[in-house]
Amino acid sequence: MTQAPAQRGSTTGTGAPAPSDRNSLSVGPDGPLLLHDHHFIEQMAHFNRERVPERNVHAKGSGAFGTFECTADVSQWTKAAMFTQGTTTDMLARFSTVAGEQGSPDTWRDPRGFALKFYTTEGNWDLVGNNTPVFFVRDTMKFPHFIRSQKRRGGNGLRDNDMQWDFWTLNPESAHQVTWLMGDRGIPRTWRHMNGYGSHTYLWYNEAGEKFWVKFHFISAQGVECLTQDEANRIAGEDSDFHRRDLNEAIERGDHPSWTLKVQVMPYEEAKTYRFNPFDLTKVWPHSDYPLHEVGTMTLNKNPDNFFAQIEQASFEPSAIVPGIGFSPDKMLLGRVFAYADTHRYRIGPNYQQLPVNRHRVEGAYTYQFDGPMAYDHVGDAPKYAPNSYDAPYSDLTGPVEDGWETDGEMVREAYTLRAEDDDFGQAGTMVREVFDDAARERFVDNVAGHLAGGVSEPVLERAFEYWTSVDAEIGKRIEEAVRSGDHGAPAPHPTEAQEVVEA
Ligand code: HEM
Repeated sequence: MTQAPAQRGSTTGTGAPAPSDRNSLSVGPDGPLLLHDHHFIEQMAHFNRERVPERNVHAKGSGAFGTFECTADVSQWTKAAMFTQGTTTDMLARFSTVAGEQGSPDTWRDPRGFALKFYTTEGNWDLVGNNTPVFFVRDTMKFPHFIRSQKRRGGNGLRDNDMQWDFWTLNPESAHQVTWLMGDRGIPRTWRHMNGYGSHTYLWYNEAGEKFWVKFHFISAQGVECLTQDEANRIAGEDSDFHRRDLNEAIERGDHPSWTLKVQVMPYEEAKTYRFNPFDLTKVWPHSDYPLHEVGTMTLNKNPDNFFAQIEQASFEPSAIVPGIGFSPDKMLLGRVFAYADTHRYRIGPNYQQLPVNRHRVEGAYTYQFDGPMAYDHVGDAPKYAPNSYDAPYSDLTGPVEDGWETDGEMVREAYTLRAEDDDFGQAGTMVREVFDDAARERFVDNVAGHLAGGVSEPVLERAFEYWTSVDAEIGKRIEEAVRSGDHGAPAPHPTEAQEVVEA
């Protein structure tokens, strides 16, 4: 057998020369392996623990590093340091699909995650959004149920359109987001060709303590381009990593994608009387009421050096905010403020914030989080408790919080109080009638009918027709006719069907 060329030897985990990466230690060449071959045992044991669990949702994705430059003076609305005109902030972006697992095709019809981490001088700010400005439900309590309806069945382990439509039609507030999903924007051509939205309403407050409600929009400088269902089906079979590869290759060849951040700003008091609840995540704010204001530019210019360390272990969390930015009474956002850090403690480990990709860049930071598995940062012998007599930091704000808002008082379990224009179907109907043109409406009917024809049974099917008739009578009729006649586009493939569609 030929020897490998002479080279620098590898080391064990403790830094000593590793005896061999080729041969385990045995009793004679044909004998049993020896337990004291520590290097071999270490290799096996570490390999057995090489994965962290994949993300429960948004498991398939990738990302890149870049910068955000604030190009406009928005100090009238926020005091956040990263939003000081002329400031450049390092950042990380991760894009993803929602329901599929690690190996699932990038081109399945699904919302895309648009998760951003800004390493600001005041702490990390994470904006964990999607490529859609709205969402399927408006109370976090429903989120686990929603996700289970989109993932695999308990019995046969298959995804199931019947289950998806069962959930959607029993939760009609999903209509606006499902209209997005089934429309042209339901499958972006690449991650570079989609917009990103913070989706929720957030709070901004300035140096003077004045508050404003804002929505964040990242508008793609590459333009918005989408795939048809047929194109997406074909690509799913040919290259399941199509979007991951596209982003990586674009950055590699110096074609750095960028997005312009724009905000809609609602004066704080106006939220109390606006014609619909401005904190309802199933609604957009019409631009005619709240126009977009430019804030800055985000550019992605560096691929990760190591996918696992910098993308798989990246932890985005809506709870990561900085002075000048706050939450809002959106019940989805408030639930998410708990959920992400909690899942990271489980998925990555309680000290996930100490990993280089997640670590903040604040000089002189001092936190009262101590010890735990894999603790790396420490404060030596400084006090682990506060207050103390030995000069370790102590935070002591009392009274009203600067990023707070007023509440109703009594504790209840109820949907948001309805306002004059609060409903489930209105904005979905406007989208179908006024945003889509004839050709887009045609594709939309094809997509919905193709999806419904893919295994949706009664009574869910009848309810789906009612759902679309409530969105728009004409579109409901066309969808029903297309399903009943079988005259509709290619169905979105189930995973097992993808290859057949490509080969057909
Ligand atoms: C309100 C209920 C929601 C809950 C409980 C929830 C929970 C989760 C969980 C547990 C993860 C996995 C995180 C990880 O393991 O790293 C996740 C990922 C994600 N979620 Fe949500 N989610 C919710 C709603 C939303 C909404 C409304 C959006 C967008 C507007 C969104 C966008 C994302 C994105 C982009 C990721 C992937 C982050 C990454 O790239 O690492 N989620 N979510």
